[in-house]
Amino acid sequence: MNDMSLTREEREAKLEGMGCKRKRVEDIRFTQGKGNYVDDVKLPGMLHGDFVRSPHAHARVKSINSEKALKVPGVLAVITAETLKTVNLAWMPTLAGDVQMVLADGKVLFQNQEVAFVVATDRYAADDGVAAVEVEYEPLPVLVDPFKALDPDAPLLREDIKDKKDGAHGPRKHHNHIFEWTVGDRELTDAAFNKADVTIKEMISYHRTHPSPLETCQCVCSFDKVKSELTIWGTFQAPHVIRTVVSLIAKLPEQKIHVIAPDIGGGFGNKVGAYPGYICAAVASIVTGKPVKWVEDRIENLTATSFARDYHMTTEIAATKEGKVTGLRVHVLADHGAFDACADPSKWPAGFFNIVTGSYDFPVAYLAVDGIYTNKAPGGVAYRCSFRVTEAAYCIERAMDILAQKLDMDPAELRLKNFVKPEQFPYHSALGWEYDSGDYHTAMRKAMESVKYAELRQEQAAKREAFKRGETREIMGIGVSFFTEIVGAGPSKNCDILGIAMFDSCEIRLHPTGAGIARMGTKSQGQGHETTWAQIIATEIGIPADNIMVEEGNTDTAPYGLGTYGSRSTPVAGAAIAMAARKIKAKAQMIAAYKLEVHEDDLEWDIDGFRVKGLPEKFLGMKDISWIAYNSPPPGMEPGLEAVSYYDPPNMTYPFGAYICVMDIDVDTGVYKVRRFYALDDCGTRINPMIIEGQVHGGLTEAFAIAMGQEIHYDETGNVTTGSFMDFFVPTAVETPKWETDYTVTPSPHHPIGAKGVGESPNVGGVPCFSNAVNDAFSFLGSTHIQMPHDYWRNWKAARELGAVG
Ligand code: CDP
Repeated sequence: MNDMSLTREEREAKLEGMGCKRKRVEDIRFTQGKGNYVDDVKLPGMLHGDFVRSPHAHARVKSINSEKALKVPGVLAVITAETLKTVNLAWMPTLAGDVQMVLADGKVLFQNQEVAFVVATDRYAADDGVAAVEVEYEPLPVLVDPFKALDPDAPLLREDIKDKKDGAHGPRKHHNHIFEWTVGDRELTDAAFNKADVTIKEMISYHRTHPSPLETCQCVCSFDKVKSELTIWGTFQAPHVIRTVVSLIAKLPEQKIHVIAPDIGGGFGNKVGAYPGYICAAVASIVTGKPVKWVEDRIENLTATSFARDYHMTTEIAATKEGKVTGLRVHVLADHGAFDACADPSKWPAGFFNIVTGSYDFPVAYLAVDGIYTNKAPGGVAYRCSFRVTEAAYCIERAMDILAQKLDMDPAELRLKNFVKPEQFPYHSALGWEYDSGDYHTAMRKAMESVKYAELRQEQAAKREAFKRGETREIMGIGVSFFTEIVGAGPSKNCDILGIAMFDSCEIRLHPTGAGIARMGTKSQGQGHETTWAQIIATEIGIPADNIMVEEGNTDTAPYGLGTYGSRSTPVAGAAIAMAARKIKAKAQMIAAYKLEVHEDDLEWDIDGFRVKGLPEKFLGMKDISWIAYNSPPPGMEPGLEAVSYYDPPNMTYPFGAYICVMDIDVDTGVYKVRRFYALDDCGTRINPMIIEGQVHGGLTEAFAIAMGQEIHYDETGNVTTGSFMDFFVPTAVETPKWETDYTVTPSPHHPIGAKGVGESPNVGGVPCFSNAVNDAFSFLGSTHIQMPHDYWRNWKAARELGAVG
């Protein structure tokens, strides 16, 4: 029974609905070491697979000899491309419309490419087998520098498509060219540049990095020969898509494939794609009839399964002498590595990079992106960002600072002058997006007041004078960034993956006692969905969040959805949850009207049930309604209380934020200290402020890593020189700065609860903020742009090149 002795506030608090800082329910198992990850799956007779990988970045594979490997105790099989050809699986389609070798077929195209798959009774035997496989390579010229990829005499990488004049996204200009993608009005943009008072031009590179989740990519495949059914436990951000892809590739009926994504230890985009390990483990299980486990190690994860960024963006802005922007022109050289395996919606070869006009009212813009092949790992995943949005934000936010420097204007003032104004929303950008809502001026001013921006600039001016007088060796940088994200892929009119529209889903089933289960097409990798999804339901239908169990990741039970990446869960599945809940509420209202003997229109919703308008004592709570739904529903009404919603959003959502960083750099050592980092985020309606804060902390920590040191770096022979955590920067609590978080609330007008995504915003806004702080510190010494990552050595080098170190 609903307890009517409680006050309205107490009833509301009991629900722990939207706006409540509800503690993460999943942490009960995680903090006790009781999570259930893929590597915890242990099946009787399970075999283990491991890869022979190429030491070369580009070489012909002359022979593979498995004889010695097959003699290693425990080794049962060595699978090569020749084996896979017998089942037509030597190559697999990529999400970007290209094809990719599963195992080296004739040649290798990047270091650590998969060459053979050794299957053994345990992991140690598999590793010994890997060491015993003899591969003869003939090295070929290596192409690492993207700027040399389209040279007439550049090495031919993709012999399989050398004569193809067209790729998945149109004509190819060269044997290493993948596509050219253009957006915007070139002529009008050129005209704006011709009559501009001021222009800037800079080549802004966003280096190659990697999502590096603490749990690497892995799977267990188990084929039941009797039932012809394949069960796959895997680290999948999008389990349903994996099931469909496996069905299409392996020609197995979709209902005979069961994909289960158990607990996942971080994804950040790395666990969206399909990798050779999944195919080889599945084939090995089908052939042996035994379960086969494949678990990547750290070096394999960093060097082979996906990468992020590697965008080289020649950026130009045209402006008036008063600082009003009049045009934007960007050319991107996009290094996609050996295969075009970028994880973007099908029609978007450069993701949503055309959000590059950012938060500013550019009347005209033109963007061209050239995708190219090099001897590097494939991938191009959205590392904690929505499909190339972080590259776009970095590009425009660095360029706005460069323009401010040229105009001798304050970078925050330049931004305020050019922001899209509140009355312009919904705003149509020059490159084709419709921004749903925003109030950029309020957010920027709040940020500036919070950090006492004017005082910081005065302190900086004084410090610069002191530096010039030789009284200090420290320089101070103030980084400002303002970003607009585009999240919630997506409306089916814009977005699909392999032809599947990018909707998402929710099924809610209330039980007779007023408790229930909710299942979604999304899959948390640490974002706290089990906590927050129940909060939406609690507010919508008045059932306490604690009484709703949230389940994701099992394709047999969850409704079809496109998964979790690109901060799409709240914009898309969050909306589906609200819509499913509203269907339940509508049925509940009919039941309440019948029981209270009034017309439905005479009822009003009151926190956790329906009340007769004007008769406060006549009330029926959702708990009682649930019982009635199973016990004595109105005549003619089906029993039960459940609903499903498949939500196709009308638009994306456009969260935004204002970030400010204060940094001191010692010019003699390059050592920096982040003195302050303030992050204001606006993600519309806030479901759980504590989880949002956690998302912002995590995203900022990754932004800090990327901007200040994290890089997948190749030497000229194609060796990865940062292939382990010894060299690839993953900050610990020791290096991580203290974060100050803040917010404004500008709801999305089209989302049922007004929420926008947030998980990736801090990565998108954080990277330019750190980089602008470093560049701002050095600017008074005469520099315009220093490339990321800004580690100690590069800072010291910059100081030396600018004459600050003797
Ligand atoms: O798709 P993903 O879960 O990575 O990102 P998201 O939709 O931004 O959600 C991340 C987490 O923040 C989820 O637990 C959301 O419920 C929560 N969130 C929130 O509490 N309020 C918002 N307006 C947006 C997200």
